[in-house]
Amino acid sequence: MKLIIVAAPGAGKGTQAEIISKHFGIPTISTGAILRHNIKEGTELGKIAQNYINDGKLVPDDIMIDIVRKRLTEDDCKNGFILDGFPRTLNQAEALDKSDINIDKVLTIEVEEEKIVERLSGRLECSSCGSSFHKIYRTPKVDGVCDNCGGSLRTRKDDQPDVIRDRLETYHKQTAPLKDFYEKKGILCVAEGKESIEDTTAEVLKALEN
Ligand code: AP5
Repeated sequence: MKLIIVAAPGAGKGTQAEIISKHFGIPTISTGAILRHNIKEGTELGKIAQNYINDGKLVPDDIMIDIVRKRLTEDDCKNGFILDGFPRTLNQAEALDKSDINIDKVLTIEVEEEKIVERLSGRLECSSCGSSFHKIYRTPKVDGVCDNCGGSLRTRKDDQPDVIRDRLETYHKQTAPLKDFYEKKGILCVAEGKESIEDTTAEVLKALEN
């Protein structure tokens, strides 16, 4: 299964990608996580990316295309992968089209904007392994501590209200048109985002089976 997830910020791409990655036994490639890792490590890429991310803007296409192209040649992608957060522009989608990779399905998760703001405002991220939690919807077993690695939980810098607004605007202008692009190719699957993570997974698996 070679799968792309295209959905608004906070729609649950990362959460569902983590679950279905285990379900299908294929890796998730999150371009957001790759960029955040580089910011944490203080790499050249991280230095370039952080200004775009903190402003709710997209990192330039040529940088992102290069990152994903290299990552997809790694061994663990041979039997499939989930792309979470790439492509995000028509340019990126066209670059992927021109490569040898045949994408099987593109999943979108529909969630109301009001819900998205609530989810992002309450999200907590592990400062060590990047796992995602929520103050209400996915609480850690111990307050402020990551269930997976024991790292400390914090709010992502781009989850501030003004940046959330900018990210949503960027999504509507630059990324949402990709749904049409993939619908025309006949590979778009639509899942309705539900109140709980488990119910959303059921919708996602149903959408992918069709
Ligand atoms: P990225 O990390 O991809 O951020 P995003 O697209 O804004 O998505 P999020 O990670 O915020 O949300 P999500 O949909 O994964 O939701 P989550 O599962 O965490 O990218 C960050 C930045 O990097 C971009 O803004 C851009 O600058 C740059 N970038 C990345 N890729 C790029 C590219 N290809 N080109 C250019 N720039 C790029 O869920 C959110 C919260 O809700 C969590 O707390 C979760 O626990 C909770 N939740 C999830 N599902 C449910 C549910 N069903 N019910 C209740 N709560 C739920």
